[in-house]
Amino acid sequence: MIPTSGPPGSVTVRAPAKINLHLGVGAPRGDGFHPLLTVYHAIGIYDDVTVRPSDSWRLTVETAPYLDVTAVPLGDDNIVVRAATLLADLHGVPAHADVLIRKEIPVAGGMAGGSADAAAVLVALDRLWGLDTSDEDMFRLAAELGSDVPFALMGGNVLGTGRGEVVESVRGGDVVRWWVVVTAREGLSTPAVYRRFDAMAADASPRPSPPHRLVAFLADPVEAITGLLHNDLQEPALDLRPELRDVLAAGEKAGALAGLVSGSGPTCVFLCSSADHARGVAAGLDGVGEHVLVANGPVAGAHVVEHA
Ligand code: C5P
Repeated sequence: MIPTSGPPGSVTVRAPAKINLHLGVGAPRGDGFHPLLTVYHAIGIYDDVTVRPSDSWRLTVETAPYLDVTAVPLGDDNIVVRAATLLADLHGVPAHADVLIRKEIPVAGGMAGGSADAAAVLVALDRLWGLDTSDEDMFRLAAELGSDVPFALMGGNVLGTGRGEVVESVRGGDVVRWWVVVTAREGLSTPAVYRRFDAMAADASPRPSPPHRLVAFLADPVEAITGLLHNDLQEPALDLRPELRDVLAAGEKAGALAGLVSGSGPTCVFLCSSADHARGVAAGLDGVGEHVLVANGPVAGAHVVEHA
């Protein structure tokens, strides 16, 4: 049971990975960010953040065996440290907590793992410190932390505009989709993939491609969306990591309905028609990439799973 009063001994918040079902990218704006028209879809690969009271700040990270714990940055520029500091400063409280992140979301994988951690830590510390931050403030802090962080608070199927931080729920939130996820041994830097996009699409329009048809069909049977998945960062990611073409080809050979690079990559995701189909495709992809996972979506955004 979740107690409603008294200071908690610990709070655990779970936040999901994302896929972009559509990622339309425009020419860079004056501030260097790229205008996006994107359909975010939260899938059931999670990072859990547990926070406990402390008289100082401590951050510890544990990772699933298929992830490289040394790839997680732990310094003061870590998005979780920035999230805690922003929330503490808003309320004038010290940023003191013992924070443990258990990661399942690929690091630098194009699945917004850092954004998930930031959203989770905002929700967890808000509860631990008894702050009762308004939704408006939470979303403002989230947008300040990163383009994908507001989505990580929301989960579900979401239309993202602006640089991705302007979020609006779209249909299909109750229609389950099945995915096979192939991780890569080494992550890709998001800014590097955007830079490659700029080099490869020097004549890109300032207006990103819109996902009108996809949004219209989001609640329809899976065949309706199979041909509508799209990622403008796929070609730049493939240019930086040509071996990902083999991963996409292997997914097609294994019988996936569609495959694409997730966000800025290098994770590749494959749409399937059912849990059984996904398990079959995953078996066909055995040995491809670093690790093969099956997950469904859409799932909830950052939410409390334990309050002790
Ligand atoms: O917003 P976030 O901090 O997650 O973005 C990380 C980097 O990705 C930015 O510094 C920028 O290089 C690139 N980016 C971009 N346009 C966006 C989102 C991210 O160029 N819409």
